[in-house]
Amino acid sequence: MLFKQQALLRQKLFVLGSLAIGSLLYLVARVGSLDRLQPLCPIDGRFGPRGQDEIPLRALQFKRGLLHEFRKGNATKEQIRLHNLVQQLPKAIIIGVRKGGTRALLEMLNLHPAVVKASQEIHFFDNDENYAKGIEWYRKKMPFSYPHQITIEKSPAYFITEEVPERIYKMNSSIKLLIIVREPTTRAISDYTQVLEGKERKNKTYYKFEKLAIDPNTCEVNTKYKAVRTSIYTKHLERWLKYFPIEQFHIVDGDRLITEPLPELQLVEKFLNLPPRISQYNLYFNATRGFYCLRFNIVFNKCLAGSKGRIHPEVDTSVVTKLRKFFHPFNQKFYQITGRTFNWP
Ligand code: A3P
Repeated sequence: MLFKQQALLRQKLFVLGSLAIGSLLYLVARVGSLDRLQPLCPIDGRFGPRGQDEIPLRALQFKRGLLHEFRKGNATKEQIRLHNLVQQLPKAIIIGVRKGGTRALLEMLNLHPAVVKASQEIHFFDNDENYAKGIEWYRKKMPFSYPHQITIEKSPAYFITEEVPERIYKMNSSIKLLIIVREPTTRAISDYTQVLEGKERKNKTYYKFEKLAIDPNTCEVNTKYKAVRTSIYTKHLERWLKYFPIEQFHIVDGDRLITEPLPELQLVEKFLNLPPRISQYNLYFNATRGFYCLRFNIVFNKCLAGSKGRIHPEVDTSVVTKLRKFFHPFNQKFYQITGRTFNWP
């Protein structure tokens, strides 16, 4: 009898203990999400007086919760109406450059409560078939957002595709354009590495980078090779400048975004006229990945996918030197046009 009572007592204690641990875990998660709001919410005036550009607290609270659901297509018409949610055309586009760090830039900007990202690359302006579907098709591809938020999309192919500047101009001649660049030779090798990985996945063989980047007949840099052409930033930018003034572009240093992301993001916030909300709290270095990752709150962090940050193959130093010499005059021109100088060799 006594033994039975003791067993019952143990069982009760176990249930009570489980409940206590469960509640504790729930509280930690809640505090985590509040913690996430803390550095972003200017409720205690830490970020200066409330201005016109201030984001309502309600919007901050909904950003990670409801909007996430809505974006997944779970919103009912009633919810959308109640929360005044809309699908807005982008006010800013990351137009390139491929392998410059476009995904990292988009994900990091999305930490800002006033920014909503289009998760997928839409390829509306560079793909004739998509473009023929019209601007409403494009708008419907955008995530739900509050009217005061800005939507950003990224499709790196825009930067190098001839028809794109005119098409974007026709949609919105005052749109803000973000270009993230890296040292051109490193970018070209990164571009090659991505293609090489694709070939290897299909069990195909591929040329060495040296063979593609250098014309075997002339021993000069092969300007027909796409990875080389994409890195001649000034040539592409000049096409864009026929439609947009330079003030509408912001150049992001992709090499610095890797090693020191916050100052680069702060420059973008300024360019987009957003109040500074992304803080060091939102970014932490992950030694295993070798990159900065994103922190939304104490519970929710994320690093970029493994396809970002590949190991590059070794490239013959004479080829690297030749390429760097080739890009040099184009880089000088790029610095001159953009007013942003890099320490590229
Ligand atoms: P590598 O794979 O050559 O290292 P994109 O998104 O335009 O394709 O650019 C990919 C590049 O983003 C990667 O090139 C990587 O170096 C860079 N990158 C910048 N910040 C990163 C981050 N926090 N995590 C992973 N990759 C990052």
